Amino acid sequence: MARGKRRAPDCGVREVYSLRREWRLGAWLAPALCFFCGCEPSPPESVPAPLRASDVAQPAGWADELAMPSTPDLNPDPNVLEIELEARVADVELLPGLKTPAWTYNGTVPGPMLRAKIGDRVIVHFKNSLPEPTTIHWHGLRVPNDMDGAPGVTQTPIESGGSFRYEYTLTDAGTYWYHPHLDSSTQVGRGLYGAFVVDDPADPKAFGDELVMLLSDMGLDEDGQLLPADTGGSFGDLFGREGGTLLVNGKVRPTLKVRNGKQQRWRIINATRARYYNLRLRNHRFVRLGGDNGLAARSEDVYNLIVTPGERADAVFTPADAPGSRNVLRWVPTERGYGSTFNRSSEDLLDIETVADAPVTPEPIPTELRTIEPLDVANATQRTLELTIAIASSVEMGVNGVPYWKTKPIETTLGATEVWRIVNNTDFSHPFHLHGYFFQVQDPARVLEWKDTVNVPTKSEITLAVRFDDRPGAWMYHCHILDHAEAGMMGTLVVRDPSTAAADLPPPTHHH
Ligand code: C2O
Ligand code: CU
Repeated sequence: MARGKRRAPDCGVREVYSLRREWRLGAWLAPALCFFCGCEPSPPESVPAPLRASDVAQPAGWADELAMPSTPDLNPDPNVLEIELEARVADVELLPGLKTPAWTYNGTVPGPMLRAKIGDRVIVHFKNSLPEPTTIHWHGLRVPNDMDGAPGVTQTPIESGGSFRYEYTLTDAGTYWYHPHLDSSTQVGRGLYGAFVVDDPADPKAFGDELVMLLSDMGLDEDGQLLPADTGGSFGDLFGREGGTLLVNGKVRPTLKVRNGKQQRWRIINATRARYYNLRLRNHRFVRLGGDNGLAARSEDVYNLIVTPGERADAVFTPADAPGSRNVLRWVPTERGYGSTFNRSSEDLLDIETVADAPVTPEPIPTELRTIEPLDVANATQRTLELTIAIASSVEMGVNGVPYWKTKPIETTLGATEVWRIVNNTDFSHPFHLHGYFFQVQDPARVLEWKDTVNVPTKSEITLAVRFDDRPGAWMYHCHILDHAEAGMMGTLVVRDPSTAAADLPPPTHHH
């Protein structure tokens, strides 16, 4: 039966109307056609064809419990996002009825979600009202070097009571986030993080309504107080500190309402210090669209979504449960090295309530998403970075055996392409993150995509290709298990512009 093109309705009345119209058309059209061809008309169908996902809206209030805090855009120019951001200690309710004195951006955990489009200018008037110095790193955004928030490398720490103006232009669509880069395990662990989505107005709408899910965990005692930053001592440094309270957009086990067949596009951000997420939903698969830098070359059908610290996942979720039923998105223990799955069971993250409305037919998701040229590595400089752990009286981590506070920067030239082997012979997995540039993992088994953070499983290695095409300066790379970074698994890369005089070179990296 021919179907007219219909806009997504915004209320049930419209749905009923379009159904009835379809019925009338069908009842009229079938005998009319049969008159010309001479066959017996079949009786009109008694069951109307199901609606398509694009014909209906998400259930009323579908994502209310997952609503992200926001902050006003102070600039009337539609191409400028100008905001005020204040880091301060504030009481937030994470466990029912209990106040947690969290470290926050603008008083909430997570901080305000920022959203803008490619090409927009961003101006952030930042004030530090924390008792300690801090900086903001715009994880994944290709900002100018002096906006990158690396303390002692690209800026001096912003003292308590101080302020700083961050300003840059958004060059890439995708799902990003922001967090402190000073004493980062402690500051992130206390609640300092927020989501940053950069839209590409050309993205197909068939991916579904968007839901940003910022995943974090917090170490709280039974009164809702933050556990000490050094909880677990050197074992905490070694294993990485996972908080026992799992949050989705700052909530413990919120409820998401869905309708069978009505797709949603999930943008997932892992903002924890150390927890790996392996997300599973009984009776479901996901279509992975990409992650760190937006769309991958192709979409991919997956059973579970793995998001390691610092990484993002972009996926289509097609609800498949019976109308009127409930399901739960679970965190499943994931192997990330010594003791990481021992004696642990799954944890419930998000309740999924399928509303009673009739199922709809999902929209097809394209396979080809984006043209990504593989980097030409024929003349690339090769390097090996080995992630190392030395255990003596304390835990000292490093790259090639050298902790951050003794490291000398790697040097390269603007325009160079390099191939880095990241080797991990330690007993733990490490999510390796590079500031300032996206890379391509050299692995034919993976869908081609641009990334800024990649997991290097224990006792293995990965190879990545990267081109330092722009923005000379000093950039950091480190393990995004923040306890590991603070224990020394961090280094700097200096991208030199040969046309720049030596006096203008970035400062040496001395900070601890
Ligand atoms: Cu998200 Cu250097 O970090
Ligand atoms: Cu690590």
